[in-house]
Amino acid sequence: MGAGKSVLGEEAARRIGRPFVDVDRRIEEHAVVTISELFARRGETEFRVLEEEAVRSALRSSQPSVIALGGGAVGSAASRRLLRERAITLEVPIDVDTAWERSRGGGRPLARDETEFRRLYETRRPLYEDVADAKARDADDIVLAAAGIHVGLGALGHVRGLTPDVAFALVSEPHVLGIHGAAAQVALGPGLASVHELPTGEEAKTVAAVERLWHELRLPRAGTIVALGGGALTDAAGFVAATYLRGVPWLSVPTSLVGQVDAGIGGKTAIDLPAGKNLVGAFHWPVRTVIDPSLLATLPEHERREGMAEVVKTGLLAVEPLWELPDAELVRRCAAFKAAVCLRDPRESGERAILNLGHTFAHALEAAAGYDGVTHGQAVALGLLAALRLSGRSTAVVEELLAPRRVRVDRERAWAALGRDKKTGLVLLGDEGPRWDVQLPEDDIRRELDSLIAD
Ligand SMILES: NC(=O)c1ccc[n+]([C@@H]2O[C@H](COP(=O)([O-])OP(=O)(O)OC[C@H]3O[C@@H](n4cnc5c(N)ncnc54)[C@H](O)[C@@H]3O)[C@@H](O)[C@H]2O)c1
Ligand SMILES: [Zn+2]
Repeated sequence: MGAGKSVLGEEAARRIGRPFVDVDRRIEEHAVVTISELFARRGETEFRVLEEEAVRSALRSSQPSVIALGGGAVGSAASRRLLRERAITLEVPIDVDTAWERSRGGGRPLARDETEFRRLYETRRPLYEDVADAKARDADDIVLAAAGIHVGLGALGHVRGLTPDVAFALVSEPHVLGIHGAAAQVALGPGLASVHELPTGEEAKTVAAVERLWHELRLPRAGTIVALGGGALTDAAGFVAATYLRGVPWLSVPTSLVGQVDAGIGGKTAIDLPAGKNLVGAFHWPVRTVIDPSLLATLPEHERREGMAEVVKTGLLAVEPLWELPDAELVRRCAAFKAAVCLRDPRESGERAILNLGHTFAHALEAAAGYDGVTHGQAVALGLLAALRLSGRSTAVVEELLAPRRVRVDRERAWAALGRDKKTGLVLLGDEGPRWDVQLPEDDIRRELDSLIAD
């Protein structure tokens, strides 16, 4: 009571584009009286019967929704069972003193007597512990849970509990395996059936590398691939999960900053072809994404900068200085932002395109450089400059945090490469939020592109 379930639930539902159901409101609508009146006229026992029915109808709905339960709803064993079967259940924690301060005098039938209120709090506590899959302190936590994402220092250690009783094939690459492989193997415990290596870096995203892995795997269909590594590794291992036996479940365990704020989230998997990056792939949402920001401690500084480009992009889209946060919180907030966009538009038929802010220019510069000599992060930093200028915004944040340096590439080649992207339109920042598919005069686009290229 008083934890703010309804407010948080409504905000999370809006962010992930799902309906919001407040069970107490539903009961009031059906009974055409307030909960207080129901309690007064028909007593708590009868209210609990109505509540159980309302919980059942909300949880049985075929439409995925965010549902706020009344504080006492978990008192029903039948409701607890349904929650376990049908829902991801989050506890919104609140201490008893705050709960009492917020609830007293509000006319709630069970918040009239302080001693009674405190006793109720204590008796309900073990039920919450029993039924909750996780705790939600804010709407971001709800969004993350809805996307199957677990973020937290030490999260890797809890990986096995997320999908118990399955056989795991750990897929990683030599560099990450050398640093974090032992911890991952301990975390997977007796569930670990085999360990496989893809090459480090973009080499993992080749037909030859994934073909070798297809041959190596001996997983039953219920077996689960655990992808441990940066974005290249999760892209390739996720693609193998999407294709092996026509698709097996996978856990994404991103270890780089790029992976934790971007690549490990959202279910896009891909490999490269000589003609271009990410040309073959599949949408295959991981059953769980486990993000442990403590793994970033071993990340080299230049790899961190690669990730910061995506962090700045995310902060610009979210209109919040997410880059100022300490690592664990920065990762949690960025991951939640991307997860919400992807849940609203899982197959990129519309607004998911906003995640490409700055990327039209970035891809053109990378292609013009032949994917050599300019990293994705450096190219994104430049691309953000162009997108901000075309949006009529200050570029100060990008200059300060990413210090982009103009690249020496062939201007015509860059312009030709951009031609492929610009037909679909640009992503720009508007007063009402990011816009995608924005058409601008070619001269303006060309002028901005040229300004990113050194003579
Ligand atoms: N699927 C998507 O939605 C999506 C989104 C963005 C990027 N991507 C892809 O992600 C890839 C780039 O990701 P990346 O930058 O993580 O590349 P990466 O996987 O090549 O990792 C970069 C380097 O960091 C090392 N590394 C990773 N984690 C480490 C750790 N904890 N400690 C020390 N070293 C570590 C790796 O060994 C590698 O050398 C690209 O292929 C890109 O296409 C995919
Ligand atoms: Zn990017």
